[in-house]
Amino acid sequence: MPATDLDTIVSLAKRRGFVYPSAEIYGGFANTYDYGPLGVELKRNIRSEWWKAMVQERDDVVGVDAALISNPRVWVASGHVANFTDPLVDCRTCKLRFRMDHIEEGQYEEIQRQEDGSYRCPRGKCDFTEPREFNMMFKTQVGPVANEESVAFLPPETAQGIFINFENVLNSTRKKLPFGIAQTRVSFRNEITPGKFIFRTLEFEQMEMEYFCLPGTDRELHRYWIDERMRWYIDRVGISPERLREREHTADELSHYSAGTSDIEYLFPWGWGELEGVANRTDFDLKAHAAESGHELTYYDEDSGQHVVPYVIEPAAGLTRTVAVAMLEAYTEEPDEKGDNRIVLKFKPAIAPIKVAVLPLSKKPDLQGASKRVSDLLRPHYMTQYDETQSIGRRYRRQDEIGTPLCVTIDFETLEDDAVTIRERDTQEQIRVPIANVVDAVRDKLGF
Ligand code: GAP
Repeated sequence: MPATDLDTIVSLAKRRGFVYPSAEIYGGFANTYDYGPLGVELKRNIRSEWWKAMVQERDDVVGVDAALISNPRVWVASGHVANFTDPLVDCRTCKLRFRMDHIEEGQYEEIQRQEDGSYRCPRGKCDFTEPREFNMMFKTQVGPVANEESVAFLPPETAQGIFINFENVLNSTRKKLPFGIAQTRVSFRNEITPGKFIFRTLEFEQMEMEYFCLPGTDRELHRYWIDERMRWYIDRVGISPERLREREHTADELSHYSAGTSDIEYLFPWGWGELEGVANRTDFDLKAHAAESGHELTYYDEDSGQHVVPYVIEPAAGLTRTVAVAMLEAYTEEPDEKGDNRIVLKFKPAIAPIKVAVLPLSKKPDLQGASKRVSDLLRPHYMTQYDETQSIGRRYRRQDEIGTPLCVTIDFETLEDDAVTIRERDTQEQIRVPIANVVDAVRDKLGF
């Protein structure tokens, strides 16, 4: 069973060093989190599984890493300056600002809808201003003078860094359609609705791929990428298919660039929520950048002998949102060897922050020496944690709770037979292997 309430994961994440509220010593900062020693590994591993599936294991996708702050005309052309807005209202009663659509969806705990259709907050009856469109992009200034000309934007998506490099990648790689350009990077949005932990934050990481194709092949490829991405969450992140679904956007939900979008949604403790959007962006972006920049962003199609503007299918995933889902999904409570309750994060080994823990039964120097030898053998291959504090039972519990698939225990017999015990997280089964074979035995169990 996955975690059924978010607080369980929020508290485990802080206690064990996955995710901390940002700037806590200053009272925190809304919708902002920091990643701790285990969170940074989990995030890195999920990003790496995405890159493997989307780039490394394919010959039709290449990667880029574009600058975060770039020419502001990028965001004029993309339509974000004009269209990337949310409808905001101010409440004259409590003096706070809200997103009207999120009030209507019941996303604010403190605002309750009344039977007559009005709303109440703890300060009394809400008195909202008319909704005003508010741009979600963060502005900054570039250069020594702060004026209108020096305004630049922090990117609200990674996609535009790909579109502005379409011509460069085409010229330098000679790729033939269909082909994709992938990027994982941080994005920024001025979100004002409280974010449900790392589900919605001001700063978050995305994993996006723009798949360029001939017009007319876009519908079929849209379907293909929805299926591929659904499979990735199941096979690579370990999400159960019952808690994933595809949801097609209604016409009034579509982004300004999209001819069709399907979200991949996860069943969060509060209900279904978006994990990834797979959009048919048509030729909107390349045409928009061509018009703004004066560069002809086309592809020469040898079969038709014509220059065409490719269509684009975009699977756009949230990395930090997937970190939350991986933790929720892996969370399990079950009996241990003695029948006591144990908490286990049943991560797939490939995304587990620590792959193997090395645990001497006691702090005796002989055992420490053998344990160091085992750690030295494992560290070049796997993220390894050495732990000699507290009882062995508590150390197993701690490793279970952070999702470590294997524990290697060094005991007094080790000094006689030069062998160690490997314990599996999920089955709690133990096998004995010679130290000389420990790397092979761990590889065998992890599968990589
Ligand atoms: N380039 C298209 C695009 O950005 P999106 O649906 O706005 O599409 C894609 O974003 C994914 O990025 C979302 O499905 C979600 O996982 C993640 N995401 C968007 N806003 C986020 C936020 N404020 N905090 C965390 N993740 C976010």
